[in-house]
Parts: sequence; structure tokens; C-alpha cells
Amino acid sequence: MTPGIPIWFDAEKFREQGQRIIDDLATFLEDSTTGNAAQVLPWRDENAQYDAWKELLDRDIELEELFREVCSASIRLHHPRYLGHQISPPATASALAGFVADTLNNGMGVYEMGMAGTVMERLVIEMLARQFGFADSASGFLTSGGSMGNLTALLAARNTADPDVLEAGNRDQQYAVMISEQAHYCIQRAAGIMGWGRQGIITVPVDEHYSMRVDLLPELYDQATRSGKRVVAVVGSACSTATGAYDDLAAISQFCSQRDLWFHVDGAHGAAAAFSQKYRCRLDGIELANSVTLDFHKLLLVPALATAVVFRDAGQSYVSFAQKAEYLFDEHVPESQWHNLALRTFECTKAMMSLKVISVLAEHGLAAWDANVTQLYDLANKFADMIDETPAMELLVRPQSNIVCYRYVPANAEQANAINRDVRERLLHEGKFYVVQTISDGTHWLRTTIGSSLTTTEHLGQLLEEVTRIGQQLESQARGVC
Ligand SMILES: Cc1ncc(COP(=O)(O)O)c(C=O)c1O
Repeated sequence: MTPGIPIWFDAEKFREQGQRIIDDLATFLEDSTTGNAAQVLPWRDENAQYDAWKELLDRDIELEELFREVCSASIRLHHPRYLGHQISPPATASALAGFVADTLNNGMGVYEMGMAGTVMERLVIEMLARQFGFADSASGFLTSGGSMGNLTALLAARNTADPDVLEAGNRDQQYAVMISEQAHYCIQRAAGIMGWGRQGIITVPVDEHYSMRVDLLPELYDQATRSGKRVVAVVGSACSTATGAYDDLAAISQFCSQRDLWFHVDGAHGAAAAFSQKYRCRLDGIELANSVTLDFHKLLLVPALATAVVFRDAGQSYVSFAQKAEYLFDEHVPESQWHNLALRTFECTKAMMSLKVISVLAEHGLAAWDANVTQLYDLANKFADMIDETPAMELLVRPQSNIVCYRYVPANAEQANAINRDVRERLLHEGKFYVVQTISDGTHWLRTTIGSSLTTTEHLGQLLEEVTRIGQQLESQARGVC
């Protein structure tokens, strides 16, 4: 140890500990990717978990042991039987990038605090803009999550419609945004944050594919304006969270240009289809959007959080927070300030997300994203076929992405909700598979997001067997048969 250097900065210790920790993590990863770990999720309820951790942390514990304990109490995203929420198993390159970025801890708010990260961020956005079919005039930035990305884009929409609002406030204006009834709840939260309230959300029903009924937009818009609302934007979901359905982006864009409305695409999950030769057609019309949000941490092998907000017109990427912060920036000339990212993001101190994205590209190229998205979407289709072929199993809707909703159908239809809720609970507690649930029109559905390219039809077949087995058991119990 070098004299005068505090122990928490000791480079030699860092080197030795780091090697042992990477060894442990590699074993954890191997047990997950091979499926050797018997459980995807080592379920323990929250109170027991609290007690166990309290006891553990009440005594002296080595760093390596602490990390091992964390791993053993954590859900395994790389496991082929992880089929739950939409978080990508990170590529090893990207996990290492996180380690490097955290060690450097460069802030991305002002250029001089994170020169390499800032420039990589611009390159990531340019790559994405090309992928969406935007012209060179597009621009954008990375931010902390899809919810933040959508809020930022809607702020830009409102401030473009009413350039005074940032200074003067909403005054008596009732701003509103039109969204599909399947849109992610963060849009409603954004409306709440902006002071629009529930009144600020105009919900558009969906069709039999769970896509927005674009044909209803004119009528709903007219109703809203007649009642005094000032509609500033329409959000297209690409895709929706619950069922993975894509809205017709080209049709929404046409409506928006007729009414001079901002068109935002919430592509947090499914704009990643832009990288798939086979499935990019799901995004036809995205190139006409004013803004698009995409989470790299959902389908693109990057750890959370890494979200892009891309604006078709570079100038519009500056209007969400167009306020002065002289202590950060020498002059307030937005377009020439592309490199001072805090002008455009809610974050002041911002993590170096670009490195996590760039690391996957540097190591594997765009082909990895094409392969990953295509394989996951293909497999979801096959899973839907398997569900159709399984007795007592019902598919909610044909999947358009890697999200599949289905349910066990008991003989007594009245028991269906309770049984499916309990099936999911049993799966959770047994820990062999991780699936989630959604409720649509009062009906409980099991929801599977196929997020790992290690999952095969064999795993999905085993899942359907498990669901059937548990469903039948619960049915028998409900009938009082032991
Ligand atoms: C369509 C959609 N939009 C937004 C979000 C929110 O993204 P984040 O969890 O990164 O905040 C999600 C998350 O699942 C989503 O599916």
C-alpha cells in the first residue's frame, strides 16, 4: 500500500479484489447462462429478506462475501428460464463498461467533466437517428430511463406549442396529450408532473390487435378542443408494455401533421426493432416523429439505465429545459452547445451511459442487435403457436414483439382469474421460471417477455407444462379433490 493513500483508494487492493470479484461473477454468469442454477429467482419474502440482511450486515463482512450474498439473493436475468419484466440481460462487454464508467465517475452534464463520454453520446444518437431513418438534422441525448425520456420529450412538445410556458407556467391552459389506452403509465405521470392532471390525458381505445384506434383520433381531438383543452401531442406506443402491440406510426404522424401536433413515439421497448432487418417494418412511420424514446436496457443487452431521446430536428432537443444556468455554461446559444448535455437533460450530474452502449457495438457490432431482436421476436411467435396448440391454454393476442400474454383456462370460467393469479404466485415461489402478469379488461393473464437469446422452445414447452400442472392442481383444490 502506498503511504499517504487512504485504504479506500488503494490500487493494489483494487486489483486483487477486482480479480476475485470478476471470478465470482463469471461463475454466477456461467450458472445462469447454462441454466445450471436450479432457480431463476431464489424467492424469500420481503420481511425474511430484511431480517436476513440485517443480521448479515450487523457483523463484519468482507466485500467478496457481501457481493456473493447479493448474487445469491438476486434474480438471474441471463437464465434461459427468466421470462419476466423487460430488462435485458447485459452483455459482458457492457457490464464491464459499467464498471469502468463507475470507476471514472465522469459527469455528463458539462463537456469538460466527461469529454469522451459526451462525444460517444453524440455518436450513439447519430447511429440511432440513422437507424430510425432521420436526416442528419436530428439530434438528442441519453437520459436515465424511458419514463424520464418520455417526460423530456413531452416537455419539448408543450414548450414548442407554447414558448412562454416555461417562464410563465401553465396559467389557465389545460394542455393535453392523446395516448392509446395501452400506453405506459409514465405518460400519465408526466402529465401529472407538468400540472395537466388526469384531464390532460385523452385515452384512445385499441383495436383487436391492441393497437391504437387511429380512426378515432379526429373525433376525440375535436371533443377535447371543444371542451377547452389544448392538445399538444400524440404519443404512439412502439410497442405497448402490457401486450407488446405496435401502434400505426405512419397513420398517427399523418393525423399530427394535419393538426400541427407534436408526434412522440414511446419506443422504450420496441424501437429496438429498428435494428432487426426482419422486424423494422413494425416501425414504419417512425422517421416522421418529432421525438422518439428508446431504452437500450430493454432489448439491446445494455444494463439499466441507458435511454436515448432522439429529436428529428436538432433545435427541438433544446426546448425541454430552455432556461439559463450561467454557472454551468458560458453563453446561452443552444445549437452550439451540443456538448454541454445538461442544457437538454433533466439530470445535472449524469452517468456515462454512452460507454455501456458503445461497448456492445465495439465488441459485437450492429449485427448482435439484429440477431438478438430478431431471435426474440421469432421465438415469441413460436411460443404463441405452442400456446395455441396446448389444451386449456388461451392466447390473449398474437404477439407483435417478444411479449406474450396467455392464461390457463379452467373448466369453471369463474375461477380463471384466481387460478391464474395463483399459478403466477406458485411459479414465483418455486423459482424455476420467472413470469409476470397483466390484467386486461378485468381478466388476469400470465405475461412472458422473452429477453434472453438462451431461451429455447424446449424451455417454453416446460413452462407450459408447469403452468398446466399447477393450474390443474389448483383446479382440483378448488373442487375439493385432494
Ligand atoms: C413502452 C414503455 N415506455 C416506458 C417505459 C418506462 O421505461 P423505464 O422503465 O426505462 O423508465 C416502459 C417500461 O417498461 C415501457 O415498456
